[in-house]
Amino acid sequence: MNVTFIGTGFVGVVSAAVYASFGNNVIGLDVDEKKIASLEKSIVPFYEPRLENLLKQQQLNGNLTFTTDYATAIKNADVIMIAVGTPSAPDGQADLKYIFASSESLAAHIKEDAIVVVKSTVPPGTLEKVEEIIKTKTKVNFFTASVPEFLKEGSAVDDTLHPDRVVIGATSPEVFSVLEKLHEPLNAPIVKVKPASAQMAKYTANAYLATRITFINQIADLCEKNGADVDDIVRAIGWDKRIGKHYWYPGLGYGGSCFPKDVKELAAYSRAINENDNLFNKINEINENRIPKLLQKIENKVDGFEGKNIAVLGLSFKPNTDDMREAPATRIIPVLLSKEAKVKSFDPMASWKSFFRLENLEENHEQTKTVEEAVAQADIILSLIEWPEITSFDFSKTRVSNKSQWFIDVRNQFSKKNLEEQGYKYLGIGRS
Ligand SMILES: NC(=O)c1ccc[n+]([C@@H]2O[C@H](COP(=O)([O-])OP(=O)(O)OC[C@H]3O[C@@H](n4cnc5c(N)ncnc54)[C@H](O)[C@@H]3O)[C@@H](O)[C@H]2O)c1
Repeated sequence: MNVTFIGTGFVGVVSAAVYASFGNNVIGLDVDEKKIASLEKSIVPFYEPRLENLLKQQQLNGNLTFTTDYATAIKNADVIMIAVGTPSAPDGQADLKYIFASSESLAAHIKEDAIVVVKSTVPPGTLEKVEEIIKTKTKVNFFTASVPEFLKEGSAVDDTLHPDRVVIGATSPEVFSVLEKLHEPLNAPIVKVKPASAQMAKYTANAYLATRITFINQIADLCEKNGADVDDIVRAIGWDKRIGKHYWYPGLGYGGSCFPKDVKELAAYSRAINENDNLFNKINEINENRIPKLLQKIENKVDGFEGKNIAVLGLSFKPNTDDMREAPATRIIPVLLSKEAKVKSFDPMASWKSFFRLENLEENHEQTKTVEEAVAQADIILSLIEWPEITSFDFSKTRVSNKSQWFIDVRNQFSKKNLEEQGYKYLGIGRS
């Protein structure tokens, strides 16, 4: 099948490489010339495990090419997958300008009976607007569908090759049949629904996961007041099959490129359809306030940040990615610097300078190449993200015996007992 992906970001590149690996003829299209030039040389402009090898293989096999030219990418495509970004607009709703711009650009080149699939996360009603836009520019018959993406950064290749399910939102049997055939090699359960249900399913999944994180953070706050330990609570409730042991992450709240924006968008969408008093408003508000609230708590505990040497470990929003969108460090480091702390940060993959497009790092901030350099002589170690390089580090090696040193473990990854025995003052989340 000839398949074109519009938008070669995280979702577009991973999906393009995976669909090419099934023997399809895949083209990746983007308006970002630098990105396409890099992908043409098999260089992925971000870190995602296993992706570069897969990409290279498919390019060598001749199944995968990249272009910035709409005519080249669209004219022979049987299936066109739109995977452009859908950031939040200032009012919180999904900003669909890239979806609409790409629909307009593809319309003039679309062939008879092609299927335009929206893979980006969009609210119900979007597919109809895409259809309208395309119809203003072409007389050929075409179909539309919604196939939301559920991959996770850091395990995106594996998630795309082995999805828990594929959700296909469409209205015509022909479309279901073509898209089922396209997804057959995945051997995954296929859920066939209306487009609006497919779009809502994506928001529902992310809002539910974000709610779980917010929920356990609220419990952690109570534990800190009453002597209970949130990790004990998770171990205790996890045996209940209705609840489960997985996906409990007490900490600084949810971040990344999807959860904050999707919850915000669901809240704004609910308000736009007069469902004003909705849970998603509250989840969003609690999460937005989480970092300032915890940072204040930490500041009180360590007796202020001013003049302190602080090691910040983990800049990405989670391990195994260099994505810093809505990462805790991006909110915490500026506060520490504004309070005149001296920061040394470490991350195995993410780069503070590249993310903020800085010539030089801020005054009083240095990004080090190793954990050891970051924590040397630190008054406070702030462990934010559970990269293996950080969690497997032996902090007894760098403990300065005649110095008071705080270890702040915001993901409860370390043994309080061990660190205290080494002489650190320890502070975790939901642990007294
Ligand atoms: N990143 C994730 O983990 C993830 C997971 C599931 C779903 N999603 C959803 O998938 C969508 C894409 O997310 P992403 O993280 O891949 O975005 P991204 O920002 O990494 O990439 C989007 C790409 O679209 C390109 N683009 C924008 N306008 C274009 C146009 N008119 N024509 C061609 N290309 C254009 C941009 O240049 C960019 O390369 C979003 O709706 C997101 O919510 C993301």
